[in-house]
Amino acid sequence: MKNNKKINICIMGATGLIGQAFVNILSSHPVFQISSLTGSKTGIGEKYRDSVNWTLPFDFPDKSGDLIINKPDIRSLKNRGVQIVFSALPSDIAGEIEDDLRKEGFYVFSNAGAHRYDPDVPIIVPDTNPGSIKLIEEQGFPKNGFIITNPNCSTAGLVVALAPLKKFGIKEVTVSTYQAISGAGYPGLSAMDISGNVIPHIEGEEEKIEKETKKILGISPEILATCVRVPTLYGHLETVWVDFSNSPGIDDILEAWTNSIPEFNLPSLTDRSVKYLTGQRSLNNHISFRGNPPGMQVYTGGLKRKGEKIGFNLLVNNLVRGGAGGSVANAELFQEIYGRSK
Ligand SMILES: NC(=O)c1ccc[n+]([C@@H]2O[C@H](COP(=O)([O-])OP(=O)(O)OC[C@H]3O[C@@H](n4cnc5c(N)ncnc54)[C@H](OP(=O)(O)O)[C@@H]3O)[C@@H](O)[C@H]2O)c1
Repeated sequence: MKNNKKINICIMGATGLIGQAFVNILSSHPVFQISSLTGSKTGIGEKYRDSVNWTLPFDFPDKSGDLIINKPDIRSLKNRGVQIVFSALPSDIAGEIEDDLRKEGFYVFSNAGAHRYDPDVPIIVPDTNPGSIKLIEEQGFPKNGFIITNPNCSTAGLVVALAPLKKFGIKEVTVSTYQAISGAGYPGLSAMDISGNVIPHIEGEEEKIEKETKKILGISPEILATCVRVPTLYGHLETVWVDFSNSPGIDDILEAWTNSIPEFNLPSLTDRSVKYLTGQRSLNNHISFRGNPPGMQVYTGGLKRKGEKIGFNLLVNNLVRGGAGGSVANAELFQEIYGRSK
């Protein structure tokens, strides 16, 4: 990091699940400090500890408990010296608010889908396509603010596993997801719908995987996605089959993942992007918060080959790598490349 002074940040949607993951990470971050939290109308004026229903499997970060929940109000953000806004807002709300923030010169790092497909807004996974950050210059940076998005949670894991394999010529990807209920936010799905049940449809998810994978990797393979909601709490499992032009063997794939060292050494990234686990039972949802930092490791397992196709399984933590952690790593990447005060 080029700048030692901590940067004031705001978390919008701090009481939701992604918001909680943000608060957990940013309550003790080397570069950023929380100076404002926002929620919807219900919690305005309350202390964070009284307003949030803390569900993450981490101790509540006491340091942030007395912060007061504010309205998402631009003037108050300016008064607090906020430079960076992390958005964990529902997509239908995020579009307009994030636009207003950008117009007012804020640097917005968003989890919401509202701006992901704007041609001048990058979707960044910082150990996969860090170079895409240059798109913020098309939004008018450094004169103006900008929006940087991270992908939807399933795509975040998929592109991390596929990026080191691009050199083998990816022709087609067939992916089936087994997505945890926390992916639907809090309170999320009705207990009657998901208890002891699987739901083979998640609105808009298959289209997101297809579009976002292509935008991030900068290639256009055929992508056949099926998305299923399963009654697990955290972590999305995915089964993947990839058809390659250059016929890599199992050892070539393993070597590519072993060498998946991020180009930028950022506090929120793991040493290696992909960790391959041997053993049929190693890869399962219970390990999704493991790794260093917790929840940022993308795990793969179960490699197999049939003809020209390679199959494997992967696990991504939807709230951290697929959500808040990915966004924080994007802000670290921004600081690393452009780091300076507004
Ligand atoms: N969950 C995941 O795994 C995941 C992964 C990647 C991306 N995302 C995306 O990240 C965003 C947040 O997801 P989430 O799962 O954290 O959702 P969530 O649990 O439903 O949280 C939504 C947050 O937004 C606030 N909010 C709702 N309506 C608002 C309004 N009208 N004005 C201001 N604030 C409002 C809520 O405040 P109250 O608590 O006061 O209602 C809450 O803090 C979504 O865009 C989602 O698509 C989610």
